Amino acid sequence: MIVTNEDRMSGSVHLNIDENCVVILDQTKLPNHVEYLELDDRQKMYEAIKALAVRGAPAIGICAGYGIYILAKQKRELDYETFKKALHVDGEYLISSRPTAVNLSWAIHRMFRIIDENNDVDKIIELMREEALNIHNEDIEMCYKVSEYGLSLIRPGDGILTHCNTGPMATSKYGTAIGPVLLGKERGLNFRVYADETRPLLQGARLTSYELQKAGVDVTLICDNMASLVMKNGWVQACFVGCDRIAANGDVANKIGTSGVAILAKHYGIPIYSCGPTSTIDMNCPSGEEIRIEERDPEEIKTMWYKEPMALKEVKCYNPAFDVTDHELLTAIITDKGIVYPPFDVNLKKLFE
Ligand code: MRU
Repeated sequence: MIVTNEDRMSGSVHLNIDENCVVILDQTKLPNHVEYLELDDRQKMYEAIKALAVRGAPAIGICAGYGIYILAKQKRELDYETFKKALHVDGEYLISSRPTAVNLSWAIHRMFRIIDENNDVDKIIELMREEALNIHNEDIEMCYKVSEYGLSLIRPGDGILTHCNTGPMATSKYGTAIGPVLLGKERGLNFRVYADETRPLLQGARLTSYELQKAGVDVTLICDNMASLVMKNGWVQACFVGCDRIAANGDVANKIGTSGVAILAKHYGIPIYSCGPTSTIDMNCPSGEEIRIEERDPEEIKTMWYKEPMALKEVKCYNPAFDVTDHELLTAIITDKGIVYPPFDVNLKKLFE
C-alpha cells in the first residue's frame, strides 16, 4: 500500500513542514472548536498525552514516534553517549504519561532500538525520521485492514454499537472499531451506529458522533446506561469496540465501560468484536490481571462538564480510565492480520509466528 502525505493528514497527528514540532488536533476542544497544538518540547508532549489532547492508542504511538524524533533533532550537537542517555530519559518520561495503552511504549521502544543499535548521531536522526514515518504509515495500512476484516462481518443496514472513540482521530486513517463503518460508507454501504457517550470524558459524544456525523453516517448518540435498552429493542446487530492493550490470553483493556458493553452483548446474544492493529497486542502481558489501569482526576466526574459541581467537594470518587474485558466475553478480535477467534491464547500466538 502506498501511503501519501494526504493519507497521513487524515488523522489527528502529523509533523509540521519544517519538521521542528508535532502538530496535533486538540481533541479536548471538540466538537465546538477545531484547534491545533504544536508540540516542540518534552513537557508539551507529555502534557498533551496526559490531558488527552492527543488520545486513542494508535494516535498516541504516532505522536510519541514523531515527538522523540523532534527531541533527537534538538540534540544533534551532542556526542553519541550523551545523546543516547538524554533520549532514553525523554522516552521514559513520555511513556510515563499514560500507562495503559501499549502503543506508546511500543513506538518509543522502536525508536530506542535505532538509537541503541547505531552510534552516528546524524545517521540515527535520519533513521528515526524514517521510523516515525513508518509507524504512521503502518498504522494507516493496519487500520485499513482491520476495517476491511470488520466490514466482512456486517451487512448493510445493521445497527452497530460502539464505545469511546476509535476513528481517524484516535488512529490515522479509517480508525479501528468504527473503521468498518467508515470504509463501508466510502463504498456506498450504510449502517446505523449507536455511539455510547462514554463517561466521564465523553469521547463518544464529543468525537465519535462528530466524526460519524461529518462522514454522513447514520449515528445516534446514547448515554452509556441506555445500551442495554437499545440492545433489547433489537436495534444492535453487532458491537465494535477498540482496545488499548490486548493480553496474550485475549483479555482486552479498553475505555472504562467496555466490559459492561461486553456483558450486555453476551446477555442479548449479540456478537462483540474488539478491533485493533497488531501494535496493540502485548504478547509479554499474559492476561488482563497484569495490565496497569490508569486512574484519573476525580474532578473529571464531579466538575468537568458542569457549571457547578455535581457532588460535594468531600465526596470520594473512583475514576479508572479503562477496564479489562474478559476474553470469554469476546466473539473475536479483529486485527490487521486477520480475525482471531477463540481460543485466543493459541490463535493470537499464531499471528506472530
Ligand atoms: O482514554 P482514551 O480516550 O485514550 O481511550 C481510548 C480508547 O479506549 C480507545 O478505544 C482505544 O485507544 C482504541 S483507539 C483506536
